Amino acid sequence: MSEQTRYDKVVDLALRRGLFYPSSELHGAIAGFYDYGSVGSRIKNNWENCWRGFFLRRLGEPFVEIQPAEVAPEKVFEASGHLTQFVDPITECGKCGAVERADHLLESHLKEGFEGLSAKGLGALIKKHKVKCHKCGGDLKEVSVLNMMLSTRIGTGKLSKPAYMRPETTQGVVVNFKREYLINRERLPLGIAVIGRAFRNEIAPRQTLFRMREFTQAEIQVFCDPSELAKHARFSEVATSKIPVVLAKERKKGIQMVSAKALAKEYGEVYAYYMARISEFYASPGLRVRFFEKNEEERAFYNKYQFDIEYEFEDGGWREIAGFHYRTDHDLAGHARVSGQDLSVNRNGKRVIPHIVELSFGVDRNLLALLDAGYREEKKKDEMRVWLSLPPAVAPFTAGVYPLVNKDRLPEKTEEVLQLLRNAGLDVFLDDGGSIGRRYARADEIGVPFGITIDYDTFKDDSVTVRERDSTKQERVKIKVLAEHLKNKLNK
Ligand code: GAP
Repeated sequence: MSEQTRYDKVVDLALRRGLFYPSSELHGAIAGFYDYGSVGSRIKNNWENCWRGFFLRRLGEPFVEIQPAEVAPEKVFEASGHLTQFVDPITECGKCGAVERADHLLESHLKEGFEGLSAKGLGALIKKHKVKCHKCGGDLKEVSVLNMMLSTRIGTGKLSKPAYMRPETTQGVVVNFKREYLINRERLPLGIAVIGRAFRNEIAPRQTLFRMREFTQAEIQVFCDPSELAKHARFSEVATSKIPVVLAKERKKGIQMVSAKALAKEYGEVYAYYMARISEFYASPGLRVRFFEKNEEERAFYNKYQFDIEYEFEDGGWREIAGFHYRTDHDLAGHARVSGQDLSVNRNGKRVIPHIVELSFGVDRNLLALLDAGYREEKKKDEMRVWLSLPPAVAPFTAGVYPLVNKDRLPEKTEEVLQLLRNAGLDVFLDDGGSIGRRYARADEIGVPFGITIDYDTFKDDSVTVRERDSTKQERVKIKVLAEHLKNKLNK
């Protein structure tokens, strides 16, 4: 049997410990849909709160958050271009009927990327290299394109109208731009953020959370005056930051550490400024990422500049977990045209259609990256210790609290300690089943940074044993300073 990759182990752990699992499994799960369990929901909520904390609060940028609807009428996607351009190239097997993404099929045969190549170009390559159906070896039909949006209808009978589940959170922001611009005192730049679900009828959902049909995005569209993209008021704060980039025109050079100042010369200070801030966001949990620039053929139809932000999975190479885009006035101009409304704003007596710089994060892929980066195992004698070294800010709990035994007033003392920690704002849980070793192991597996044991000595010295997840080091800490002690450790 082939050895499990780290990714496989992370997925096993996730399924076993309720991080996530296939949706509607009871009735036969559909590929591409996953539910977050009780532990996974905590980690996901924590990630989203860290993202809000960094981008919406700490940076001090003019960013606001809204919650638009997930379903929108057809006109929205006519205006955005998704109706005609949000398509994937597909090919169907003439023998068994299996449908494949043509570019992915070629990629797996020829071991190089074909993203962005036209259906015609892909069809020609399939013929040239005599690529057959990977399932049955049958001949493949002509390459065609398939729209990736999930459609629905709103209303009943003849009066019902076509609608779509949003394929990106962006459009909910764009259609509300004018309203939010007025509410937010007619300022530019104005960043409008959304954390919410997006839906895509992916042809080949795969690798659990990595390519799903329903997933979560955390996005900010920064609306800017196009004549002000060259300068950013706070650029000096990041000018010397070095950003790991793979430039489209210098791909052969691989990752280069380029200063924000140098990038600003090519892309303008506003664009380079947010690249530096995104780098900072990833540096804090220690996630190593690179900005991979897409060339003209590879870019999404709405982008003038596009950098995929990629994390290197231990076994699968660099893969996209977020994107950083310059969408120009593509969206507002499209919505203005289709709605017949004026979406320009007054800038010093001139009418201007704002341009969008977009920070787009796939929440689920970011969680996978954190799980991949945090997965640890260590063989001791015959036992394998497995733990998730998650950053404390995203860990599902701060600490587990464990009475040594469930008698002799230990449960009451444990309840006292739990309450004290909860009152101090710490997220703690009680585990009073099985040996202490097993309780530590269970908490380690879901990434809980500390374990606190209440034992008989607690009555003598008013102290507890605090054990750290990563080092497994233990120390006695007085109950009266316990909350402070944990908070200090968390902030280190
Ligand atoms: N608004 C821009 C936009 O949606 P995108 O590159 O298509 O850009 C942004 O998506 C991010 O959403 C990606 O970087 C990825 O992390 C995540 N994402 C896209 N498709 C996904 C899928 N099928 N499953 C999980 N995450 C996905």
